[in-house]
Amino acid sequence: MSPRWDLLVVAGLLALVGLGALGYGLRAGRRPVLWVGLFAVATAALFVNQAVRVSRLPERNPVPRTGQSVQVGSRLYRAHCAVCHGPEGRGDGPAAPSLVPRPADLRRTARMADGLLFARITEGLPGTSMPAFRDTLTEEERWHVVNFLKALTEEP
Ligand code: HEC
Repeated sequence: MSPRWDLLVVAGLLALVGLGALGYGLRAGRRPVLWVGLFAVATAALFVNQAVRVSRLPERNPVPRTGQSVQVGSRLYRAHCAVCHGPEGRGDGPAAPSLVPRPADLRRTARMADGLLFARITEGLPGTSMPAFRDTLTEEERWHVVNFLKALTEEP
């Protein structure tokens, strides 16, 4: 997992500009400059946060997407996910109508990186009913589910 230097460089520059503006704003008693400085420093912190999050995503899927893996993923999906996301991943499972927000249409996950899908399944989505499967499914099982989701969008 390599650090995202691009994000960190932007954060560093923003922090420098921000701290400079803060220092000047304080010395000269210029409120607007102070606000700009604060804003730049806060934005720098967001960039650092994002860089850390992205660097924690697994970079590659260790489980090859074979027919067997997709089949295992499909079985796990029916057992753990279909109740919300629906049998074909359309977000129309039996529990869906009672959920706010509605479960995601998983056919759009084709564009998401495997590592990001893995992270969503592992951590869930705070603020929604999407549960974390860290303790429910093993790592390997979660990768099988990722492979199944990818295969889902490739069928006609
Ligand atoms: C209790 C209902 C429920 C269950 C069970 C559930 N989900 Fe979800 N899932 C949700 C909801 C609600 C969302 C959030 C929709 C939104 O706001 O984007 C979501 C979001 C997601 C997302 C993010 C999509 C995106 O665009 O970011 C993925 C991927 C996902 N679920 C996969 C799964 C998988 C795989 C399983 C089974 C291992 C599963 N979910 C089980 C309700 C559920």
